[in-house]
Formats: sequence, C-alpha cells, structure tokens
Amino acid sequence: MNVSVHSDADALSRAAAEEFVELARASIRSRGRFTVVLSGGSTPRRMYEFLAALPLRDRVEWSRVEVFWGDERGVPPDHPDSNFHMASSALLEHVPIPPQRIHRMRAETSDRAAAARDYQLEIAQAFGVDMAGIPPSFDLVLLGMGNDGHTASLFPNDEALLEGRRWAVSVEAPQRPPPLRITLTAPILNHAREIRLLVAGQDKAATLRAVLQGPHEPRRTPVQLIKPENGRMIWLVDEAAASTLDKAVVA
Ligand code: 6PG
Repeated sequence: MNVSVHSDADALSRAAAEEFVELARASIRSRGRFTVVLSGGSTPRRMYEFLAALPLRDRVEWSRVEVFWGDERGVPPDHPDSNFHMASSALLEHVPIPPQRIHRMRAETSDRAAAARDYQLEIAQAFGVDMAGIPPSFDLVLLGMGNDGHTASLFPNDEALLEGRRWAVSVEAPQRPPPLRITLTAPILNHAREIRLLVAGQDKAATLRAVLQGPHEPRRTPVQLIKPENGRMIWLVDEAAASTLDKAVVA
C-alpha cells in the first residue's frame, strides 16, 4: 500500500503541490503537455494556493497544462460551492493557462445527463480519441475522500458506482448538499497514470482505516473502487487521518 504521512494538512498540501510540479515537468518533457484532474472539497485548496505562489508557480510551464475536474456541484461557476470556482480563485486566476485548456463541467444546467455526455466528448476531443472507445489516461488525477467514503461524487450505494462504460455521469447525492452533480466514473479515473488521494483530519481516521484495512465493500466505501489499471496511486494523508492505521500500512 502506498501511504505517505505528513505532519498536518499544511505539510500534506505542500507535499502534494511539489509532486504536482514534478509530475507536470516530467509529463511536459515526455509528452509535451500535462493533463490533470482537479478535485473539489476543502483539502486541495491549500495545495492550489501553494501552486499559485512562488517558488512553485514559476516551475511549471502553465501554457502546456490542461485542466479537468473529477466532479462538480449543480451550482453556477461563480457560486461559493462550485469546485470550478474554488480552483479558479485559489489557482487558475493566478497562472497563465490558456482558457481553451480549462475544461469545466457544466453542472449548473438543468439537463445534467446531456452535460455529462458533453463532458465525455470534450475529454475525447482534448485527447484526440473516440468518445465511444477506451478512456484516455490523465497524467494526474487528484481526489479527496469524504468521511462517508465517497470520492469525486461517487457516493455510497449510488448507481454511478456500477458504471462500466461512460466516463462522466450525472448523480443525485441527497445526503450531501448540493445534491445534484456530475462526476467522472471509475473506468476513466482508473486509466490515469498517477492518482493522488488527499485525506486530512481526525474525522476521516475511522473511514480511512475501514478503506485501507477493512473488507472490500465499494458500495459502502466508494473510494475503494479507485485502483489504477496501469498507473500508480499514492495516499497523501496527515497524521490525524492516519492516527488509527496499523504501523505496517504506513511503513
Ligand atoms: C466534492 C468533492 C469530494 C471531496 C471530498 C473530500 O465536490 O465534494 O470532490 O469528493 O473531495 O468530499 O472533501 P474535503 O477535502 O472537503 O474533506
């Protein structure tokens, strides 16, 4: 198991930002661009702020970065609950990424199923692949985990967990406002070259233990669906979240 423990949320965010920079540089060197899926939630905000500030900001060739989202809430893009808004205010407004390389999910529209299909097409076009074919591989997928075990907007017992073909779907998550959302699905997330799961805080400790050391029950703890087929996945956690893990897991 690949679990990297950091003293607190700040240290974890800094480590994640530094890794983003290294992966961006390596991807741009070998493939000419860096495709990254951003996550919502509060944990990544600090990471984005580190990326937007010196010294890290100047170490990335932002014109070659292509940005996507793992999920979006059904609110307008300037709403405080919008994942796009969070990433924009913490990072994207401060770095020179060409606007055509910023691919937001239009989850505020009334026909979210159509918006999810459009997003699949937009991903396919950005990668120059067939939207009915095998999902492309993002260079980096950033994810968080809720204390109910959800990741992106893949919630316990939701039918989106069973999706085997579509790359993006609309979901209703009544237990977690705002309920109407669009999410990427396991088939495309698991095609990534690199996945980093950021988990901070004591309130996540019990769920983290269940996910990493308990039985495989992805309907109950959807983050267990995340297993890259050929890529690498690392859990970046803080000491509070890791406090109940067995020593062998974090060694
Ligand atoms: C969302 C997220 C979600 C998030 C987790 C963890 O839009 O709600 O993408 O999956 O990553 O809920 O969020 P925190 O980092 O805020 O705990």
